[in-house]
Amino acid sequence: MSFLPKPHGGTLVQLFHPEYDLTAVKNTITIDTIALSDLELIGIGLFSPLTGFLGQKDYESVVENMRLADGTIWSIPVTLPVSHEVADTLVAGESYKLEYSGEVYGVITVSEWYEPNLQKEALNVYKTEELAHPGVKRLFERGDVYVAGDIVLVKKSEKGLFSDVWYEPKETRAMFDEKGWKTIVGFQTRNPIHRAHEYIQKAALETVDGLFVNPLVGETKSDDIPADVRLKSYRVLLENYYPAERVHLGVYPAAMRYAGPREAIFHAIARKNFGCTHFIVGRDHAGVGNYYGTYDAQYIFSEFTEEELGIKPLFFEHSFYCTKCEGMASDKTCPHSKEDRVILSGTKVREMLRDGVLPPSTFSRKEVVEVLIEGMKETTVVTGGR
Ligand code: ADX
Repeated sequence: MSFLPKPHGGTLVQLFHPEYDLTAVKNTITIDTIALSDLELIGIGLFSPLTGFLGQKDYESVVENMRLADGTIWSIPVTLPVSHEVADTLVAGESYKLEYSGEVYGVITVSEWYEPNLQKEALNVYKTEELAHPGVKRLFERGDVYVAGDIVLVKKSEKGLFSDVWYEPKETRAMFDEKGWKTIVGFQTRNPIHRAHEYIQKAALETVDGLFVNPLVGETKSDDIPADVRLKSYRVLLENYYPAERVHLGVYPAAMRYAGPREAIFHAIARKNFGCTHFIVGRDHAGVGNYYGTYDAQYIFSEFTEEELGIKPLFFEHSFYCTKCEGMASDKTCPHSKEDRVILSGTKVREMLRDGVLPPSTFSRKEVVEVLIEGMKETTVVTGGR
């Protein structure tokens, strides 16, 4: 018997058909890295109930109301952008191979294509039109016409270093059931796991059966710590400080949108599809720069009922190590002043790591820092904000 939540929309979408006969599909649409990742995640059901790239009605409804046209909660448009030149060659009802780097990964049966209002998408989804926002910049660069239609996934991407931590929702669901977990908390991150992350994860784990550490390894901005380096740091942290029978590591292969509050909802839905019953939302979840208020990504959950969302958000205050408390704490639990708290910005930490300077062990575990410094030596230096 399973205690896991139903997938979003009721059924886990499964569209992987490696046997699909491509000989009858004559034409091709070339896709970018984000579309490739979206294609695969639609195909394996992580984006259930989506069965393809959004049509105009769904797209407009998502941008406007955070819901698909049928009312299902959906906060981030999943779209297939192309140029006008490509759009001019399309025929409605036809199937097209979806090709990335010379390989066919999927097929789309084109139902329609349309010109999105990108300004509106930027303002509603990202809350800004500024090109300094990495999500907005990408939005305006990707293409002016959106192609819609149901997809078939014919080939999965190479998992490389991630192959032993790359699970499909049907696999995580089976694993959680097998472990007998009734309540599982999902944790999203695009960063190394520092002490504050560990603190909120473990605080959450105190109240549920299992913790699903689910770091994002899809496309991120260039100054975020690369996923392969992070993966090593997750492994060493889990080996040394986490109980193996209560914690499971698996990657979240989606692209980072940096859409703050709207992305928190999106992240929660994907984790429900993985089988999680709870989802951690701390301070400035999926934020970048100063575009969102510290707790905006928590407030947005009040716009939906828990029943409708189908996964329970667990909110955490800004956490830190306090030298007077001699432990991890937050504003909620610590009465001491700013001077007693070990708080470092993401930018500062990345700078330290690149310079080979160890952040204090009250900020990040020694084992983690060592792996990161080693990993960063092999990475090109790029600077930028959170
Ligand atoms: S992101 O994926 O949300 O952009 P990040 O690693 O910064 O990545 O955060 C992962 C999760 O931990 C988010 O839910 C975030 O709100 C939470 N978080 C990060 N740092 C803190 C902190 N110091 N205190 C409380 N929550 C935090």
